[in-house]
Amino acid sequence: MSSEGSHYFDAQPSVGSNRQQIELSLADVFLELGTDSGVFSAGRVDPGTRYLLQEIPPVPNETASVLDLGCGYGPIALTMARRAPAATIVGVDVNERALDLARANARANGIDTASFVTAAEVPSDQRFDLIVSNPPIRIGKQALHDLLSEWIPRLSPGGRAWMVVQKHLGSDSLASWMTDQGWPTTRLGSRKGYRILETMAGTA
Ligand SMILES: C[S@@+](CC[C@H](N)C(=O)[O-])C[C@H]1O[C@@H](n2cnc3c(N)ncnc32)[C@H](O)[C@@H]1O
Repeated sequence: MSSEGSHYFDAQPSVGSNRQQIELSLADVFLELGTDSGVFSAGRVDPGTRYLLQEIPPVPNETASVLDLGCGYGPIALTMARRAPAATIVGVDVNERALDLARANARANGIDTASFVTAAEVPSDQRFDLIVSNPPIRIGKQALHDLLSEWIPRLSPGGRAWMVVQKHLGSDSLASWMTDQGWPTTRLGSRKGYRILETMAGTA
């Protein structure tokens, strides 16, 4: 992000507001999304996010609980909600401006099965059948490892995670690290520098 001293992963971005309206148009889903300065990919849905949403398989069961880890203004969570109307969707982010946008985007698109909250608001015993994420690689390797170590163990038995990561931002070493943690991770897709990783819940 260009504004000095402001990051898309700040809790309260210091950059002023500049609201925009963008569209996410996929073969099966259309969403109008409000965005703003100080959130990730405000001008258009991120190409990695779009690729993830185009490539991932259907939600494995209709009533799945789904986590969008690092939800931003909500393109992943809201697409999952459209595709699986009986599923329960939770979007988590640190950026309060992004969370406000995601909640407003859910309302504007008539979606009431998705909630958008900070990590502290998710009950510690809540488990997820699916995690779908364009994770915050830019927070740094250790912080990313800590984040994944917090959430991947919260997959239900048999659960899985689908993540998009750019190759040049370390997708392959991330996959190796995750496998080493006991979360078998393989490549589900690869295109234009992006990798989609599939991680299976650990057995421990
Ligand atoms: C690459 S962006 C993806 C945003 C959105 N899912 C999308 O596809 O447009 C990663 C998101 O993770 C959020 N994030 C950073 N650190 C986080 C943390 N510790 N917990 C949850 N979300 C975090 C950022 O604020 C950002 O919105």
